[in-house]
Amino acid sequence: METIDKIDKCRSTMQKLREQGNKIGFVPTMGFLHEGHLSLIRMAKRDCDKVAISIFVNPMQFGPDEDFKKYPRDIKRDTSLAEKEGVDYIFNPSVKEMYGQDHKTTVEVKELSSVMCGKYRPGHFAGVATVVLKLFNIINAHKAYFGEKDYQQLVIIKKMVADLNLDIEIESGPIVREEDGLALSSRNRYLSREERENAIVLYRCLNIARDMIAGGENDLEIVKKRVMEELKGNEFVRKVDYFDFRDPLTLQEKKRIKKGDGEILAAVAAWIGSTRLIDNIMIKV
Ligand code: PAF
Repeated sequence: METIDKIDKCRSTMQKLREQGNKIGFVPTMGFLHEGHLSLIRMAKRDCDKVAISIFVNPMQFGPDEDFKKYPRDIKRDTSLAEKEGVDYIFNPSVKEMYGQDHKTTVEVKELSSVMCGKYRPGHFAGVATVVLKLFNIINAHKAYFGEKDYQQLVIIKKMVADLNLDIEIESGPIVREEDGLALSSRNRYLSREERENAIVLYRCLNIARDMIAGGENDLEIVKKRVMEELKGNEFVRKVDYFDFRDPLTLQEKKRIKKGDGEILAAVAAWIGSTRLIDNIMIKV
């Protein structure tokens, strides 16, 4: 396995792999790898000849009061995990290498970026789309892999790829959960023991919603009211940014459902103490 920190070197290495006829799979990450990332790496290994991952904590996707500085980093541990999974290349650039001194361009995927998390994290998805496009241009992979935990990010990246005619296939991997159901996230490590025990309330609420809908409730406002009671009744939930039902493709909000609608996305973002967590499930209607 080779770790590359320069854009030119990465580009020429990937170009050579392509010329040799290799199919390249790419897993973009911000490091502090967990089973969720590793499951995406395994998908890439299954589908492709060579696998590259990026480890880059992207300042552009953090707001001024967010956790860019304290975001967990451990390149040694990540390198050893990646090596065990058979990753071929780690692209680990510095902020200066990625953005230089005078970066002016941002990519904005309109509408999809201003709802749900975008409403509470202005500029976040422009930061994500911009860095992902830059990484796609540098790595030049055939396929890229994203987790469904960041469902809105996945929809935005797919739209960017379609709108900008990018020559890359986007694959997604299911959410990986702890035994009690908590979705894996690098940010889980911020939680105290008691917060960790209570963080499961997010997944419990998603399941309450699923059960109410399975039981025949089609007024989603009623479902939401019940779920919000559950969330607000938990003393460790400091704030709920949203609990929404959305169309999985357009992310438009759904207030009612009828049989045959297909699937709807139930998604939540809430603060457990000072940690913002997100989770979602797809509900069959
Ligand atoms: O999902 C993430 O870890 C990040 O948003 C990504 C896609 C690596 C871009 O920085």
